[in-house]
Amino acid sequence: MLQLTGVRAGYGSFQALFDVSLEVRAGEAVGVIGPNGAGKTTLMRVISGLIRPTAGQLTMEGVDVLATPPHRIVELGIAHVPESRRLFPRMTVEDNLKMGGFAPAARAKFRQRLAVVYELFPRLRERRRQLAGSMSGGEQQMCAIGRALMSEPRLLLLDEPSAGLAPVVVDHVFALLGTIRAAGVTVLIVEQNVQQVLRVVERAYLLKAGRIRAAGAAGELLDGARLREAYLGV
Ligand SMILES: Nc1ncnc2c1ncn2[C@@H]1O[C@H](COP(=O)(O)OP(=O)(O)O)[C@@H](O)[C@H]1O
Ligand SMILES: [Mg+2]
Repeated sequence: MLQLTGVRAGYGSFQALFDVSLEVRAGEAVGVIGPNGAGKTTLMRVISGLIRPTAGQLTMEGVDVLATPPHRIVELGIAHVPESRRLFPRMTVEDNLKMGGFAPAARAKFRQRLAVVYELFPRLRERRRQLAGSMSGGEQQMCAIGRALMSEPRLLLLDEPSAGLAPVVVDHVFALLGTIRAAGVTVLIVEQNVQQVLRVVERAYLLKAGRIRAAGAAGELLDGARLREAYLGV
């Protein structure tokens, strides 16, 4: 479904990703783990078109993402839940969801998509008139995910959905992944919460200092000495 080959990217003269190659197959949940500053968020921004790579290839279902204008990448079926959620705190939950249905195709189907999202996350329907900023951290993450699902993506990019949440809420957020996948959406998730994410994905890549340092089945990475060495530096 998604294929990256030899992707390099950065900020000005600073290179954050070095020849990153990875693949996500339809129906999978794939994790990208790695320490702070590894380039995980940069990778997500590259896939969703916020940053243009300086080298490499990127395709979604065989379509060249790099030949697609950034504002049309959502129409390729990719939606991005950014780090720190970026909701509009003084707007209601429902108005935040509306902001996610901005692609022309999605706009026409707005009511239908809203119904789908409320079906998946009944809590959002209950809270639809509440200001997003007044909800709990876990509910805000649910709202951010719901907003991304408004564009009817086939691939959802989740950037550290558990960041800043209390442990009990983190469990709930990881449980949302099951709901998303049951709706037929493929998931690429970035996490620092290694133990937990490796329990909900099939495969994962370890990114360190902008390079893929390990890749494999989640179970192998979970107890792999290679992971401990590369991730913890011990
Ligand atoms: N907007 C930016 N401008 C310049 N450098 C950045 C910017 N965002 C991230 N970086 C740098 O790129 C590297 C990778 O950052 P990031 O992708 O955010 O890592 P991660 O998400 O794994 O913590 C870091 O060295 C970071 O300082
Ligand atoms: Mg990050």
